[in-house]
Amino acid sequence: MNLYYFSGTGNSIAIIRELQKYLKDAEFKPIAKHLDDADVNDDSEVIGFIFPTYYMDVPDIVRDFTRKLSIKKDAFVFAVIHYGITPGRAFHSLNELLSEKGAKLSAGFGIVLPDNSIALKTPLRKQPEMHALMPLTVKNISSMVLEKRSVTLPGSDSSLLGVKGKVGSFVLRKIFGTERKRVTSDCTHCGICERVCPVNNITVYDDNVSFGDKCADCFACIHWCPEKAIRYGILKVNSKSHYTNPEVCAADIMAQK
Ligand SMILES: Cc1cc2nc3c(=O)[nH]c(=O)nc-3n(C[C@H](O)[C@H](O)[C@H](O)COP(=O)(O)O)c2cc1C
Ligand code: SF4
Ligand code: SF4
Repeated sequence: MNLYYFSGTGNSIAIIRELQKYLKDAEFKPIAKHLDDADVNDDSEVIGFIFPTYYMDVPDIVRDFTRKLSIKKDAFVFAVIHYGITPGRAFHSLNELLSEKGAKLSAGFGIVLPDNSIALKTPLRKQPEMHALMPLTVKNISSMVLEKRSVTLPGSDSSLLGVKGKVGSFVLRKIFGTERKRVTSDCTHCGICERVCPVNNITVYDDNVSFGDKCADCFACIHWCPEKAIRYGILKVNSKSHYTNPEVCAADIMAQK
């Protein structure tokens, strides 16, 4: 059983740690390690995906990975997709990507966890309950996976949601300005942002930090910066804006690539 995961702020990693307790023969594989691979072949009987919802859909890094993944047509494929509010059409998009290969998403499991997108950040007072519920949910998911039980995909396959997601992406990137990142004078040039970036989009120099144009929108750099020195566009960032999963550290994120 091979399980592919991606995380910016640690929620996926907290989930896989729980899955590891029950799915003893599973191998957990970071999607970011396959960035430069042209093809990934996997002939496992059971394949899982664990990743966050971005813009009511599958994150681009997961979409690109799924396109290059070759799997058996009759593999049991499941996904644990998490989100702050709604998965939108993420499960259905993943199913469409798999059906291009003659396979399908047999089971989908949604988990609500704190939203790390800053624009819609989950209030601090609501976060402990979300973290506390997750392990029990994952225990239930694990028993269904071990039974290879088909489970109806959560969310919707409405193409209108796809349009809403694209609008959300435009607003966050272009208007709120997440693609216009800069650092304040608090930056110590420690290099952590460069090391957590899953797509190598950041270069830290002795006197400067440079952001490229292939950002995967994971928000890892913003949240893991120890000095909270990264700003972008017009979105206000203050001491309450940041989120990282309390069970996960920056080294866990760096280990994905
Ligand atoms: C760019 C971006 C877009 C997001 N879009 C959604 C969304 O459409 N719906 C939602 O409920 N949460 C959304 N979120 C919140 C994340 O899905 C959620 O916080 C997730 O658990 C983070 O996972 P991670 O800690 O493994 O990176 C978004 C987060 C980011 C950074
Ligand atoms: S993580 Fe923060 S302090 Fe460190 S180099 Fe990046 S922006 Fe500067
Ligand atoms: S630049 Fe920041 S937000 Fe973009 S992919 Fe890298 S770590 Fe994630």
